[in-house]
Amino acid sequence: MNVLLIGGGGREHALAWKLAQSPLLKTLYCAPGNAGIADVAELVALDVGDHDAVTAFCKDKEIGLVVVGPEAPLVAGLVDDLEAQGILVFGPSKAAAALEGSKGFTKDLCTEFNIPTAAYGRFADAASARAYLDGQALPIVIKADGLAAGKGVVIAQTRPEADAAVDACFEGAFGAAGAEVVIEEFLKGEEASFFALVDGETALPLATAQDHKRVGDGDLGPNTGGMGAYSPAPIMTEALCARTMKEIILPTVAAMKARGTPFKGVLYAGLMIEDGAPKLIEYNVRFGDPEAQPLMMRLKSDLLPVLLATAQGELGRHALEWDTDAALCVVMAAKGYPGSYEKGTEIGGLKAVGDDPRAAVFHAGTTRDGPRVLANGGRVLGVTACGKTIAEAQARAYTAVDAIDWPGGFCRRDIGWRALKREA
Ligand code: AMP
Ligand code: GLY
Repeated sequence: MNVLLIGGGGREHALAWKLAQSPLLKTLYCAPGNAGIADVAELVALDVGDHDAVTAFCKDKEIGLVVVGPEAPLVAGLVDDLEAQGILVFGPSKAAAALEGSKGFTKDLCTEFNIPTAAYGRFADAASARAYLDGQALPIVIKADGLAAGKGVVIAQTRPEADAAVDACFEGAFGAAGAEVVIEEFLKGEEASFFALVDGETALPLATAQDHKRVGDGDLGPNTGGMGAYSPAPIMTEALCARTMKEIILPTVAAMKARGTPFKGVLYAGLMIEDGAPKLIEYNVRFGDPEAQPLMMRLKSDLLPVLLATAQGELGRHALEWDTDAALCVVMAAKGYPGSYEKGTEIGGLKAVGDDPRAAVFHAGTTRDGPRVLANGGRVLGVTACGKTIAEAQARAYTAVDAIDWPGGFCRRDIGWRALKREA
């Protein structure tokens, strides 16, 4: 079967790397891809926003399955337009992608179906948002309703900060995504990511994972897309996973079906765990990046038939097998990220890592210039390794990081610290 993968980040390289191992695969295409994905897929210069062009490509190349990596094309309705032309797609419809595309939509769904989450209010103007703030404790969380590439959330420690965040949204800091604002109670605890494949009706949980959102060691500094991740996540005990399925994932799947907008794809719950109880912080409607990197490294089952079954509504017959080894991914980012950073710096030493079969360098923002690999984004590489324990995976990952010669980049040195503390 021919497969088209949409996206060009570290998550997509991990998915491409895994899909390329499938005996069912004939040709893997990827749009736009990156320098690393080019090793396992044929890159195509498709404008993903042009749904007719994507459809025409799929028909021309006899694509049997389209796998959509990032959220933006999902929220833009790419799946709807492809499916209308009879093309099979892994990913939710536009209506189901509202679980990520509108925080207010998800909060209302939680209220209606008793899904545990932070108390909140939804506002369409600054005056009513401020009036709500009058009655709230600090810190308080201000969020743009729509997609803001992870930048639309402010945890305000003071009232002036909260007011400024509200004003910024309504003054257009996030464009249309900030036309509505959600104000939320601040949740205490430890965050974890929970993933389940969902075929509209059946949900199949993936192995557990946890990421590090802050840019600096000790989980300090500004939020990022994720500076590293590992699997399994020791905090997600079997009991906690069962509870998350029962109290959060399954009610959501049932609710989306009941609304006439069944969810198909991967449902990613960002959780806050306090005193052993999960609360939903937010949903994403795609694999986590960088969580997908350690997850794909641990997945023993063939990925392609499971993604196909998810798209076809036939997940019920499937199970997933995971390596008992742990895997850990260290993100290398361009200096300055998540603020402004330079593009085009040269990355050396990548071949040395290729010699270790228990480590892989997943590319995120890279391009090729002849034989040279150049940085082309904020998060640039996801250096991923496995080991008997998180500690062993971490040591192997940092050995690989140290073999990479990239003066323009940096990484955190403590990825996995919470898990290591639990292992010890
Ligand atoms: P979100 O984009 O909604 O996942 O928010 C980004 C990050 O902000 C989350 O990963 C949390 O670290 C933090 N965050 C969001 N909402 C809350 C909340 N209600 N309480 C505490 N932290 C939050
Ligand atoms: N790792 C966070 C995300 O994928 O949104």
